[in-house]
Amino acid sequence: MNQFRQDVIDGLSQPNKTLPSKYFYDKKGDELFIQIMSMPEYYLTKAEMDIFANQTAALTALLQIDKSQPLEIIELGAGDGTKTAKLLAYLLEQQYDFKYYPVDISSNALEILTKHYQNILPDLKMECMCGDYIAQVNELSHSNNPKVVLFLGSNIGNLTDEQATSFLNELSKQLNAGDRIVLGVDLIKSRDIVLPAYNDAQGITKAFNMNLLDRINQELGADFDSNAFDHCPEYEAQEGIARSYLKSLQDQAVKIGELTVKFAAGEKIQTECSRKYNDTVLQSILDDTTIVLENKILDNRQLFADYILKKQ
Ligand code: AVJ
Repeated sequence: MNQFRQDVIDGLSQPNKTLPSKYFYDKKGDELFIQIMSMPEYYLTKAEMDIFANQTAALTALLQIDKSQPLEIIELGAGDGTKTAKLLAYLLEQQYDFKYYPVDISSNALEILTKHYQNILPDLKMECMCGDYIAQVNELSHSNNPKVVLFLGSNIGNLTDEQATSFLNELSKQLNAGDRIVLGVDLIKSRDIVLPAYNDAQGITKAFNMNLLDRINQELGADFDSNAFDHCPEYEAQEGIARSYLKSLQDQAVKIGELTVKFAAGEKIQTECSRKYNDTVLQSILDDTTIVLENKILDNRQLFADYILKKQ
């Protein structure tokens, strides 16, 4: 059985139904996520863009790159690369010797990214790696060249704190002492700012969440009726985790191939968690790792942080 089918069946067989958020990103999902990033309510991308566009030199200085050796820049979940382009352009301009390795689960996103970079940064040396970045971490170059790993956009927010610790531990094994990680995270803040970011007025986030059901229908031969579900995001600043759900609007049974899954009216499928951070949360994630928190840069509105982490 393919992994997607297995994961969907496992998630929907739990008492609290879940679906893994990594499956949002098919062609349609990639397009919708690009649209989400331009929604006025979705402040995350704009905030991190402020750091990459307006604080590029400061960010580069914090990386303490040794110019006498070739550098490998690895980006986990590269997406459309708009923010990273600012940093890469600056490094080329400053004549750093480096190669860029974008990793993404979407081959479609990597193709678009490659074309985009060939256009705007023709001198960039790059090599794409397609796959789940959690799995791809073990495929990273085993060279002893210094590395900077970019893990931006609060992508780490989709992991639980335990998963984040074990992920960073796996990543750390592939790094040498002194290598750096740039970890972009959304900061814990009030509900009136966070919740609308996951419930934009134009309904793009809703379409993004519901697209998961269409994808299951198309790829796994299921018969989800998307009109019988609604998009429901939740967030409490106390906890600092935004969660997205698909709520069943009626009692219903859905077929996924051989399997029939029953839903009660009001029952929810959790499709995503988006963790928000502060120094304390991040430090507790790093406590059981060989990675230390070295520095951070905030955007002009102090909504988002790029933490500079260092492998010990
Ligand atoms: C790509 C995981 C950072 O959690 O904010 C956006 C995905 N989900 N709107 C996030 C997302 C709904 C996004 N990340």
